[in-house]
Amino acid sequence: MSIESTHCVDINAMLPRDSRAAMRQAVAAPMCDMRGSAILATAAQVKARIAQGAQICNLTVGDFSPQHFHIPAALTARIQQMLAEGQTNYPPADGVPELKSAIVGLYKRELGLDYGSDSVCVGSGARPPIYAAWRLFTRPGDKTLSFLPMWNVGYYAHFCQTDHTFLPTSAEHNFFPTVDQVAQHLPGTRLIVMNTPLNPTGTAIDRDVLQGIAQALVDENRGRQARGDAPCMMIFDQVYWRLTRPGVTHHSPVRLVPECAPYVVHVDAISKWFTGTGLRVGWGVMPPYVQAKMKGLIGHMGAWAPRPEQLAVAWLLDQPTLVRAYLDGLQDQIGARLDKLFSAVQDMRAQGLPVSAIRPQGAIYMSFHVDLIGRGFDTNEQIRTWLLDTVGLAVVPFQAFDMPEDSGWFRMSVGAVGLDELDSALERLRTALRTRQG
Ligand SMILES: Cc1ncc(COP(=O)(O)O)c(C=O)c1O
Repeated sequence: MSIESTHCVDINAMLPRDSRAAMRQAVAAPMCDMRGSAILATAAQVKARIAQGAQICNLTVGDFSPQHFHIPAALTARIQQMLAEGQTNYPPADGVPELKSAIVGLYKRELGLDYGSDSVCVGSGARPPIYAAWRLFTRPGDKTLSFLPMWNVGYYAHFCQTDHTFLPTSAEHNFFPTVDQVAQHLPGTRLIVMNTPLNPTGTAIDRDVLQGIAQALVDENRGRQARGDAPCMMIFDQVYWRLTRPGVTHHSPVRLVPECAPYVVHVDAISKWFTGTGLRVGWGVMPPYVQAKMKGLIGHMGAWAPRPEQLAVAWLLDQPTLVRAYLDGLQDQIGARLDKLFSAVQDMRAQGLPVSAIRPQGAIYMSFHVDLIGRGFDTNEQIRTWLLDTVGLAVVPFQAFDMPEDSGWFRMSVGAVGLDELDSALERLRTALRTRQG
């Protein structure tokens, strides 16, 4: 029996007029103060302008346009096959055994880490393992640590109400902290978050710095173990590790300092290196006794990855030659874009124009500096708006990654642009910068 449409309750008529006040009463603290993603807000503004017909080279989104980037064809075929075979039931809360064992093989082969399947917890992308780790290791008021700029850490610290410290960094150190900075802050800290290759900067941490940080973690935790205190844990977010630029090596802290294995949760996903952000397959790799609790939490959230995708990814990860060929092609596409951006900015700089960049070492990002603060502009936001309106170039200021200063630094992301678009945008940039000089 169906209900006639005339009987439908008009929901809007039933809701309070002041929706903000109603939200603050309905949603408990601290969630009522949760902020939306600043990156997505910028990206949405740009999309709206493009929809209105504006010519904009959109370097804001940390995603891939399917117009330019495709997931592996074999993965598409395998997902379809899994669906056709009826693989549509709940997967186990920590992932299907085939995928867990393929991840074990991947980490052994490519990272030199011999974990067991009971160390792997699969989730719907990298976010659930990240969120779960925050929840498992922290209580409100606990000290947590990361550095600036970094993707999304501020939101997690807010959810969990931790007493968070963001270590300042500089371009000189590729926007990573020094070993001394971290070591000084480790006492009393319950969780440290690391990410390399780093979103938003496109830089990769130096091997010696990572080794020093891992050793400092071990030293700190040795003392705590002797006192019976809880250890400091580390989220090591390596979602871009397979997009490390040729000539740059990615390291795991556990490979560099094996004694830190009890404290490290590696976070990973196919989102970026199979360009399948919408497929939602990610995982954490950690000590088995932590995995058991993460499995529980991800199970309660229902944040598992879809079963057909899990089985298809498991199959593909077990074909290293196929994966290597795909990644080589992908690296060529990403590299062509990043190299074009970097050399054009270098060229402009050589011509005396007020821009510079850090040579990309990984991920799909380049750190781009506009040296116009105090020279006609007071804030990054003013520069961002000028680039958008005058140049038709959309970038994200480092403030979207919790870095408060008006430093003139921006993230450029190449996942959603074609090479021709870049050519014309760079030409417009060159012309606009020249007029500011005149
Ligand atoms: C550093 C970093 N970690 C994790 C994620 C989240 O990945 P996923 O989409 O798999 O949840 C992102 C997404 O942009 C990221 O940049």
